[in-house]
Amino acid sequence: MELGGYSGAMSDDDELDVELEARLEEAEEFEPPEAFVEQANVTDESIYEEFEENWPDAWERAADLLDWDEDYDQVLDDSEAPFYEWFTGGSLNASANCVDRHLDERGDEPAIEWVGELGEERTYTYEELHREVNEFAAVLREQGVEEDDVVTMYMPMIPELPIAMLACARIGAPHAVVFAGFSADALATRMNAADSEHLITCDGYYRRGDALEHLDKAEEGLEQVDQAVDTIVVDRLEDDFDHELGPNQSDYHDLLADQEGAEVEPVERDAEDMLFLMYTSGTTGKPKGVKHTTGGYLAYTAWTSHAVLDIKSEDTYWCSADIGWITGHSYIVYGPLALGTTSVMYEGTPDYPEKDRMWEIVDDHDVTQLYTAPTAIRAFMKWGQEYPDKHDLSSLRLLGTVGEPINPRAWKWYYKHIGNESCPVVDTWWQTETGGMMITTLPAVKNMKPGSAGPPLPGIDARIVDESGNEVDAGRAGYLTVNNPWPGMLRTLYKNDERFISEYWNEYSDPDEDEWIYFPEDGAKIDEDGYITVLGRVDDVINVSGHRLGTMEIESAIVGVSGVAEAAVVGGDHEMKGEAVYTYVITEDGYEGDEDLRQEIIESVEDSIGPIARPEAVVFTHELPKTRSGKIMRRLLEDIANGDDLGNTSTLRNPEVVEEIAEKVQGD
Ligand code: WTA
Repeated sequence: MELGGYSGAMSDDDELDVELEARLEEAEEFEPPEAFVEQANVTDESIYEEFEENWPDAWERAADLLDWDEDYDQVLDDSEAPFYEWFTGGSLNASANCVDRHLDERGDEPAIEWVGELGEERTYTYEELHREVNEFAAVLREQGVEEDDVVTMYMPMIPELPIAMLACARIGAPHAVVFAGFSADALATRMNAADSEHLITCDGYYRRGDALEHLDKAEEGLEQVDQAVDTIVVDRLEDDFDHELGPNQSDYHDLLADQEGAEVEPVERDAEDMLFLMYTSGTTGKPKGVKHTTGGYLAYTAWTSHAVLDIKSEDTYWCSADIGWITGHSYIVYGPLALGTTSVMYEGTPDYPEKDRMWEIVDDHDVTQLYTAPTAIRAFMKWGQEYPDKHDLSSLRLLGTVGEPINPRAWKWYYKHIGNESCPVVDTWWQTETGGMMITTLPAVKNMKPGSAGPPLPGIDARIVDESGNEVDAGRAGYLTVNNPWPGMLRTLYKNDERFISEYWNEYSDPDEDEWIYFPEDGAKIDEDGYITVLGRVDDVINVSGHRLGTMEIESAIVGVSGVAEAAVVGGDHEMKGEAVYTYVITEDGYEGDEDLRQEIIESVEDSIGPIARPEAVVFTHELPKTRSGKIMRRLLEDIANGDDLGNTSTLRNPEVVEEIAEKVQGD
């Protein structure tokens, strides 16, 4: 096999560049850059074997990265599988691990470097972070928040968000962060599901330089919440936007001022105590409340930050995700701060005020690792290399991607134009449920193959199987499974153990034999070297710009519009977003599928989920293609959206409708 690791110096010579470009296109595999290997946290390939031979005890490595109040007595307790427990008997506090323990050596070093949309910057040293987390923990106590009360946060990328999360962790109150781009309805559904009586939000934020209201949306959501709620409001927009506080609302900074200098002893939490809840989309319309724990989750995110992102405390590391999603929880807040590093946090969009915003931040802050999403990389590629070329990106040592499959062209562009062919690229597969990275290359150990995430991490037993659970041959598509537990795994779905089993453990497990296999609901293939390429979801979830959306949730928003009889939603391929929302709608008698109805449908989806779920296409039809037993043929609707060959449709109950719909889609 030809390897594409380049050791020679780059030249400006055009001819050479063309030749290199051609080699990049051809290269299937890239070696870890030598300079990176020399300094990497994990360099010995034997770690894979060690985990295999010494499993599950090898996971002590992860636990060793943390400070424990009480040592655990068992690494893994599988007696109630699949309700696994990790590091049982141990106790610790996540906020003490992410803040307090760094004070001696890193007190004056930055913990969070925040960059605002308008270009303003705020740095919190570990000392300053410690102070505000303590004060806010005192505020929460004063507000009556008790251990195990769920505190909801509905906030954009402002420093008060990670501060509030850490303050909750300090007093043992699990947080439930709702992405600020979600709608009022989505907030209400989640607060009701979690019985949450506390909300932290803000008056608004900036997008492309404009002040955007947020409090109205939060209040609208609260109207639909069953329980009484106390709300704390961060004044982000100051003089740009006046807001009045209603009853049960208090101002974040006023409350903080009342607690000036307060210190709150971190509560000792059992390893298995809940650290947070994160709602995510699944097959049914109801979001799933994924429960993560204090010991296993924190150990797992710290370990993967160390082994995969190669984080050292003196780094300036940047993950450009939003904290409203799991990536931000694990790899902006918990993993990096557990390791005492500097975590950059950016409020805004990558193309405001100019398309070089990201590169300007990398340059100004001397960012050492950048972790972003394929959808962003595809946009950078489209905008052109002149934007990164304007800046000195030589501080970068490692690049990462997450959230959706990355096509080899985008991978190579990232490797070449951002990493200057001297940074390893880690393509990391994982999920809200897994808590942290599961499949990717260890950057100093394994060669990289563009388009393939890589082998499972040490200690992770991922396989590709057919419908009966037998492993498929290399190169064949199948279903991804994870055949042993890991510390970062979800423990259950909040207050719904049954759904936890039916969603993740029913497909391939054999309960009679006490054999439990986790099913992530992704399709994938494996190559001869054991590298896994994840192909995408096999359930009714679509992935729009790395955002996970349930088609059923979108369908119920559409069916709620008067005049709509039936709707089917599928994901169609999209050049920039990866997937886009395609909706097929049957109207009730007497209703026209006209522009007004189309607008109402789009608005209803935005109201019930948020603008990220906005349909790309609304196709009116008088029928949907169905099997003889009456099931909607979603695959076919996807093929139609993609303009793919539709194959044989004669086994349908209503084959004639397929052509008709396809013509409409093409005509759009
Ligand atoms: C997809 C995000 C291919 C996958 C951390 C998974 C990926 C879903 C990758 C989880 C990757 C994530 N390559 N697909 N590197 N990373 N996915 O819960 O379909 O928002 O099941 O977690 O994203 O999305 P979630």
